[in-house]
Amino acid sequence: MKILGIETSCDETAAAVVKSGRILSSVVASQALHWKYGGIVPELAAREQLKAIRPVVKEALAEAELEMSAIDGIAVTSGPGLVGSLAVGVAFAKSLALTQGKPLVGINHLEGHLFSIFIERPDLPLPAVVLIASGGHTVLLSVPKKGKARVLGQTLDDAAGEAFDKGARLLGLLYPGGPSIQKAAEGGNPAAFDFPRPMLKAENFDFSFAGLKTALAVFLQKYPEAAQKRLPDLAAAYQEAIAETLAGKTGWAAEAVGAKSVALAGGVAANRRLRELLGLQVKKSGRDAHFPAFQYCTDNAAMIAGAGEFHLQRGAVSDLEFEASPNLPLSSFAAA
Ligand code: KG4
Ligand code: ZN
Repeated sequence: MKILGIETSCDETAAAVVKSGRILSSVVASQALHWKYGGIVPELAAREQLKAIRPVVKEALAEAELEMSAIDGIAVTSGPGLVGSLAVGVAFAKSLALTQGKPLVGINHLEGHLFSIFIERPDLPLPAVVLIASGGHTVLLSVPKKGKARVLGQTLDDAAGEAFDKGARLLGLLYPGGPSIQKAAEGGNPAAFDFPRPMLKAENFDFSFAGLKTALAVFLQKYPEAAQKRLPDLAAAYQEAIAETLAGKTGWAAEAVGAKSVALAGGVAANRRLRELLGLQVKKSGRDAHFPAFQYCTDNAAMIAGAGEFHLQRGAVSDLEFEASPNLPLSSFAAA
């Protein structure tokens, strides 16, 4: 099947074509205008989505060397995300489906992230433990087979990406915070400061990152000059606290459920230190591991098309009445 995927849940406008699990094209237009506000401004994000959606879809089809008539089905992110941004993708996908007579399926954004793993590793040994860590979510899943997932734990407050973004803001670094902190941490000593590893020792698979951000804020109130004078050490120590917490709990979850493999997804999965720490841990345990290529960690539409192909092949077609769901729950796909 040739599936057109559309993703507009936040500040990326993305379209991709996937054919039998293979990526024919993947186009991502990132909105550059938010960095000066230190975070995403929802109204601006929706307006930019409106401007970008047509050219991005056109480019994805052109790159795949296909006309719209050759597409067998359309998959679009239906939630969770920013309502205005989501609505642009959903309305565009619906009108394409209606005018072109194509089946349409709405995809949970987090299930999309999960499928970013199967695009590159369709043969990943299952059951797997998968950590999805992004700007809005931090979820640990047990995946017994494709299309099934059970939530083992999730964040009780801030997401891991949010911890990076808020930490970067406190350190005077640009949005998005993850890549900024990673860069600032180069050459820094991760042991120079001792930030908390929130809930690392708790007997569950939940996370909590709000306290870590507060620890950095309190430290900077006490030593305001440190943000400049000790930036590499501070960034490295802060990154280490997040990476160690995520890697520790993910490895532990893999032991607990007897997983054959461990995988990462979501924007934070692009973090080099997290990949390094979890990679070492997984290697020691003899499990298989998969960390997606960087362009498939952050938001993209190839993952949405991949999930869409899986569902459309099984006859799951959404009716054209469905709407963007900013608070679409995990249970809409995690149901094993
Ligand atoms: O999955 P994503 O692109 O969008 C959401 O669904 O949220 O994730 C974006 C998040 C941001 O918080 C960003 O700071 C973080 O992923 N991120 C990183 C890195 N690249 C992006 N965090 C840590 N290290 C990175 N290299
Ligand atoms: Zn995402």
